[in-house]
Amino acid sequence: MKLYNKVERILTELHALGIDDDAPLSVDDLTPFDQYHYYGTEAVDHAAAAIGIDAQARVLEVGSGIGGPARYLASSTGCHVTALELQFDLNETAMHLTQRCALADSVAHVCGDVLDGGQNGGQFDALVSFLCFLHIPDREALFARCFNALKPGGRLYVEDFAKHTEPSAEEWVLLKDKILCPYLPTPTGYEDQLRAAGFEDVVAEDVSAAWASFTRERHDAWNARRERNLDLHGAEITDGMEDFYKTAADLSASGVLGGLRICARRP
Ligand SMILES: C[S@@+](CC[C@H](N)C(=O)[O-])C[C@H]1O[C@@H](n2cnc3c(N)ncnc32)[C@H](O)[C@@H]1O
Repeated sequence: MKLYNKVERILTELHALGIDDDAPLSVDDLTPFDQYHYYGTEAVDHAAAAIGIDAQARVLEVGSGIGGPARYLASSTGCHVTALELQFDLNETAMHLTQRCALADSVAHVCGDVLDGGQNGGQFDALVSFLCFLHIPDREALFARCFNALKPGGRLYVEDFAKHTEPSAEEWVLLKDKILCPYLPTPTGYEDQLRAAGFEDVVAEDVSAAWASFTRERHDAWNARRERNLDLHGAEITDGMEDFYKTAADLSASGVLGGLRICARRP
């Protein structure tokens, strides 16, 4: 997955702060760099409050990246998180950062594909996922795996894209090639698919306007530090991030890409 392959970026940022590889870390040291979704820890706090994650909860995070949401959720609520990530290099980096934060007892990193169903067995009180499902077009299989992973009464919280207006042919090329998003449900279609998978109490909040602001500000902030980013990360990362941030901001501004925060419950 070419989108999230520059895992060294976070280590470069830590070096710039004078933090050596292998030095102990706090979760707060990392949160400016390890949240690969919109609104960072604020969104994770929202998820925890929305589905009632507490210190007793066993939580599965699907598509955990380099572990930012999982570490923050475990440290802020006291819950246990199993962080499932498809890509080996991200998962390795996530594990190493979690060890450096002394959180290995609270966050278990697992490398795998959610569609393989290795996390089945009804063992989780909650399942959270931030900007991962957009990469997985087989929603029937995905939601079946999510349903099976939860205990009866278990709660689901997902942040994901939805389609507001039909993308043009050119916009579909951008979605597929630059965002790696090959499929977009409508907001009501999303809710219907979750109900068809057996979920109840499905509630989707439309956060498109807030996400359009976030993606534009993220792009502008990255570009405002272009010289610094070139010095620190080099041209490939600086230009690659600029292009990705611009595409996300443009597709949000055009009204194609909508944002949803979805809660549901396994009966
Ligand atoms: C936008 S990143 C978000 C990472 C993390 N949730 C965060 O907010 O920091 C999406 C992640 O989902 C992972 N992913 C995509 N498809 C997956 C799958 N089928 N199973 C598990 N992880 C997947 C990607 O490798 C990527 O790390």
